[in-house]
Amino acid sequence: MYLYQHQLLPKDEVAISPDDRAYYFGDGIYEVFRVYNGVLFEPEGHYRRLEKSAREVRIPLPYGVDKLHSLLLELIGANRLQEGTVYMQISRGVAPRSHPFPQQAEPVVMAYCSEVSRTLKSMQGGIRAVTADDIRWLKCDLKTLNLLANVMAKQHALDQGADEVILHRNGTITECSASNFMMVKEGELFTHPANHLILHGITREVVLRLARQLDIRCHERAFSIEDLSSAEEAFITGTVTEITPVVTVDGKPVGRGEPGPVTRRLQQAFEQLIG
Ligand code: PDD
Repeated sequence: MYLYQHQLLPKDEVAISPDDRAYYFGDGIYEVFRVYNGVLFEPEGHYRRLEKSAREVRIPLPYGVDKLHSLLLELIGANRLQEGTVYMQISRGVAPRSHPFPQQAEPVVMAYCSEVSRTLKSMQGGIRAVTADDIRWLKCDLKTLNLLANVMAKQHALDQGADEVILHRNGTITECSASNFMMVKEGELFTHPANHLILHGITREVVLRLARQLDIRCHERAFSIEDLSSAEEAFITGTVTEITPVVTVDGKPVGRGEPGPVTRRLQQAFEQLIG
């Protein structure tokens, strides 16, 4: 079942208009939530981020967080989802193609569940990454539907036989195509500050919290590809990828080229958190 315009419907009854501004302009926002054991993981962080994205792109949310939460619970219940994700997008609405905000349009809400297993193989063995220019706009903290630069970057990585891309602006590492990036140096954790150049990941926030609880020093400070070349460990964080070690960057090993002890400790703490 899908959530579409305030009701639950079978997928083939969801009729998206070709005049939906998400389709023409990518004019909308979205969230990807994680569900473990039938329960939404860290929903408050996702709602807060959704409200911020909505406010900044000036899409009025059709309902408050309480109503949204109860609709998502209904959706998860109707689909009997135990392990997976909930995707939700809200477009500015339906109107003939024209750049200005339409006068009349009402936001279009669409959400659905996917059964997704945890990516245990990558989490255990790690992934290979390549670096690429971050050519995105300057509001990467908003979770908008305009993901073409992310899509291009991800494909660039796959075309080179890698699994993920590490984006950088003039050598300064920002994040990845659909995850945040962290490195470990001299036992301390480094990640880009939560400003307009990265998405403020919910998993990033959880990992920083866990690291502080484990007495791992954390620095939300920009660092370069060169800094990364002498890192002991690196990993990505995200709703789907959780904490996934990065074992090579541009074909060169990170540290010993295998998941490191700090990454492992954080993975274990994350595991306990999700039960
Ligand atoms: N992506 N950075 C980018 C560019 C992202 O798209 C995402 C999430 C993250 C990690 O954020 P979080 O920990 O809140 O999932 C960082 C989602 C999963 C996606 O677009 O599918």
